[in-house]
Amino acid sequence: MRPLVAAGRGVTIAGIGGCVPPSVVTNDDLAQVVETDDEWIRTRTGIRERRVADPETATSDLAEVAARRALEEAGVRPDQVDLIIVATVTPDMPFPSTACLLQDRLGAVRAAGFDLEAACSGFVYALAAGAQFIAAGLYDTVLVVGAETLSKILDWSDRRTCVLLGDGAGAAVLRPAPPGEGILGLYLGADGSGGDLLKQPAGGSRLPPSAETVARGLHFVQMNGREVFKFAVKTMGDAAQAALAQAGLGFDDVDLYVPHQANYRIIESSARRFDLPLERVVVNIDRYGNTSAASIPVALDEALSTGRIRAGQTVLLVAFGGGLTWGAAVVRWGYDRQAPRPLEMPGQRPRYGLPEWIRRQAAEGRARRDGRARLAAAAADPAASPAGAAPRPAGPGEPGALPGPPGRGAPPRAAGGGDAR
Ligand code: UT7
Repeated sequence: MRPLVAAGRGVTIAGIGGCVPPSVVTNDDLAQVVETDDEWIRTRTGIRERRVADPETATSDLAEVAARRALEEAGVRPDQVDLIIVATVTPDMPFPSTACLLQDRLGAVRAAGFDLEAACSGFVYALAAGAQFIAAGLYDTVLVVGAETLSKILDWSDRRTCVLLGDGAGAAVLRPAPPGEGILGLYLGADGSGGDLLKQPAGGSRLPPSAETVARGLHFVQMNGREVFKFAVKTMGDAAQAALAQAGLGFDDVDLYVPHQANYRIIESSARRFDLPLERVVVNIDRYGNTSAASIPVALDEALSTGRIRAGQTVLLVAFGGGLTWGAAVVRWGYDRQAPRPLEMPGQRPRYGLPEWIRRQAAEGRARRDGRARLAAAAADPAASPAGAAPRPAGPGEPGALPGPPGRGAPPRAAGGGDAR
């Protein structure tokens, strides 16, 4: 195994910040728009509620709050930052990067910036990438952010995905490490052959946005949950073991395990395999759901505020996600947080109730699906189709068909099969 932090300067996390939007959507709220219930969601995932950004809030808005909080904790001014890396699958727009938007908003006038896309492993990937610049002596201060507004790319009429994900942002300031603290081990992995298991099919160069991609709901997240579950359980162990081995440590040495918050059952089974009691595991999926790249830094923020992370402790971070990607980091923590800090946006308090735009979008999704089902029925039995029914959409390879990736005959379908309701 190749060490991931070059044999150069040590790198530490000098400050953490987090931010979640005020709107709280409970499981009961979601049961109003999809065929689900609180019991199913809680027992299968551990999620009770999630945060959802308002329509006018973009990823950079959450990222900015988290970044300012992290900089303040580290005692670093924005103009001292050398590099900003934003890990996200929900950038404000394809370009300019959210990192550049953030650089401007923070007034980080000296900083370079780029976005990094590794889905739910994004924060660990960004941590590893940012650490290299400091280890190599090129930069002294790197701001790493994991930020998402996944609510904007969810089909709120698809119960297989909309109950799982949430919005939020977390940030970390990386600095050269004093002796005895900082990142001790890092590991990253990827397997693109599993890319179809979790994806947003349209909106890129393979399927550029068009009236048809919108009509077919191809800009929304699609996931084969069962397969991602199996992949997660395997790769979390591999990643954790590799990062710990690099640090010369074992699971016994871990004071706190901060896993990606995707499913409580995944977290629990990994902790059991690592022989780590649940008192040493950070879990906040019940309140935020899966916030992808934001999940680990938001969990770190809460663990610092509640005093669960203290100077000198060994903290294990483990993530997995779309790509497929996975990764782990082992950090000897360098500071205590003196007083709890909020995750709420400035001046905001949690606000309950299903937002109207979600209700509307779910109704549109149902109508879209019903329309597609009617078209499919008409195509299967043209004699039964009402006069004037719209023509069947083009099939794979037929004129007018949407192009698929090379070597694959079928057009994109919902990754998990036809369960969307
Ligand atoms: O960060 C990485 C992103 N993703 C993940 O980590 C997801 C990993 N996977 C998971 O967390 C789980 O696979 C899920 C929570 C997504 C699903 O749990 P599961 O135990 O694997 O359920 P399943 O997919 O096997 O579905 C079981 C049943 C199905 O019904 P049938 O076919 O048995 O009749 C689904 O149609 O549950 C049904 N179902 C639901 N029922 C109520 C699926 N979603 C829902 C729902 N409410 N929201």
